[in-house]
Amino acid sequence: MPTMMQEHMLANMRDHLASLNMILAKLAAGELDEAAEIAESRLGVSSLESHGASHMAQVMPKEMQQVGTSMHRAASNFALKAQEGEVLPAYGALAEVTAACVACHSAFRVR
Ligand code: HEC
Repeated sequence: MPTMMQEHMLANMRDHLASLNMILAKLAAGELDEAAEIAESRLGVSSLESHGASHMAQVMPKEMQQVGTSMHRAASNFALKAQEGEVLPAYGALAEVTAACVACHSAFRVR
């Protein structure tokens, strides 16, 4: 992957982690709508355009793209669950997001 793309991807990653942190804080505070909003806008399917996913996908192996897509879908699914207002199912849906983080990290490196 070209160096500039690596930098861009790692910056996205740091934003993903910061987003997770905020989502957890919102869940713990019982602010489920805010948690949903952060998840959808920063990790969900709605975030694909803003973080340049279509450009990034071109330099990723197919399996990596698939895990990435499943992570974005899981985040959007979490947002729906959180909006339903039940905190335990929301945590469960959030664990599906982190499962995609874990799956990709255990399989892929930038170099
Ligand atoms: C589609 C694959 C993929 C997914 C999904 C993914 N990551 Fe990553 N992430 C990577 C790769 C590849 C690296 C670089 C690892 C390396 O080369 O050592 C990375 C690196 C990182 C880093 C280090 C950034 C830095 O500055 O070095 C953080 C933090 C991170 N990811 C957080 C997350 C979080 C949180 C999630 C889930 C919300 C996530 N990632 C989902 C592929 C992914």
